[in-house]
Amino acid sequence: MTLKDHVLLTLYRSFSQEISGEKLAEEWGVTRAAIWKAVDSLRKDGYEIHSTSGKGYALISMQERLCLPCIELSLQENDRNFQVFYENTVDSTNNESKRLLASDVSTPFLFLASEQSAGRGRLGRSFFSPSGGLYLSLVVSNFPLLSGGVRYTAATALAVAQALESATGEEISIKWVNDLYYRGKKVCGILTEGIFDMENSRLSHLVVGIGINLKDVSFPEDIKDRAGYVPVDPEKKTELVIDIVRNIFNYFSSIEDPAFLEGYRARCFILGERVQFTKNGRTLSGKATAIDDWGGLVVETADETLTLQSGEVFLEEEVSVDFQLRPDTLGDRDGDDHFD
Ligand code: BTN
Repeated sequence: MTLKDHVLLTLYRSFSQEISGEKLAEEWGVTRAAIWKAVDSLRKDGYEIHSTSGKGYALISMQERLCLPCIELSLQENDRNFQVFYENTVDSTNNESKRLLASDVSTPFLFLASEQSAGRGRLGRSFFSPSGGLYLSLVVSNFPLLSGGVRYTAATALAVAQALESATGEEISIKWVNDLYYRGKKVCGILTEGIFDMENSRLSHLVVGIGINLKDVSFPEDIKDRAGYVPVDPEKKTELVIDIVRNIFNYFSSIEDPAFLEGYRARCFILGERVQFTKNGRTLSGKATAIDDWGGLVVETADETLTLQSGEVFLEEEVSVDFQLRPDTLGDRDGDDHFD
């Protein structure tokens, strides 16, 4: 960690309270001039830091920025090798993460960005990722291999929902399998991709990509009726990231136990509702009745009871009001090129 990181970390931890330059200099064994230089550089990055003569420096506003050393240090309590990478703009944090993996960066790590130029969604779609959102990919290895189901995806959805609930004090609901909704609008999408190790014929890594809309932006025409944003206090963004990753670690570490799915079911707003989906090229409809212990969605159609493990379902009422969502305009959506 650089001196600049240390200064940011210390100022963040005593947010809005002054700390003298002398104390900071003593703590890190450097001159007061070196502290001033670090503070100056942080200010140039955009952090709002006040200085009062005789009292010292106080971090007043993060200006929507993250405290990256805070995130890294906090998450190293879970795994001391945890690393954090950040770029303001990337094509896709999942793509960047895969490039890092290919260059032998060790796991676990987190790749964060504030904007994506080619964000990817599920089922081969793009994911609108304007500046000011939170886009992150968590890369893990050493996870218990499950023989089936969408438990990792469901666990991630619940982990993010709970972190957002702590940040906003409001309820977040889940649309199976992993879209998060706030006040009736989709505010977060999750794309979990598995990296396959050919030599050992097994999944070696999971790249868990999460995109959260945090700002009221003008959404593209095709999603503007369904997309929304979740108003997280900009000063709480760092805590939100830490919470998300901690929650994911917690659920992943006991993934064999389906108990967490209770929290998922409680938030899943399609249960009990009539839904439409496509299977083998056919549009079907039925009542979503349960989430099974693998995270699969149980749907009772007129002819049979099906358990869906992937793909996407739509509320029937949603399909009838939104032309963009009609399954017949979307092609077959039960194909699955991702882990979820
Ligand atoms: C969806 O709603 O279809 C899933 C969207 C997943 C978006 C996230 S943003 C971070 C990560 N990088 C990507 O390119 N996609 C995921």
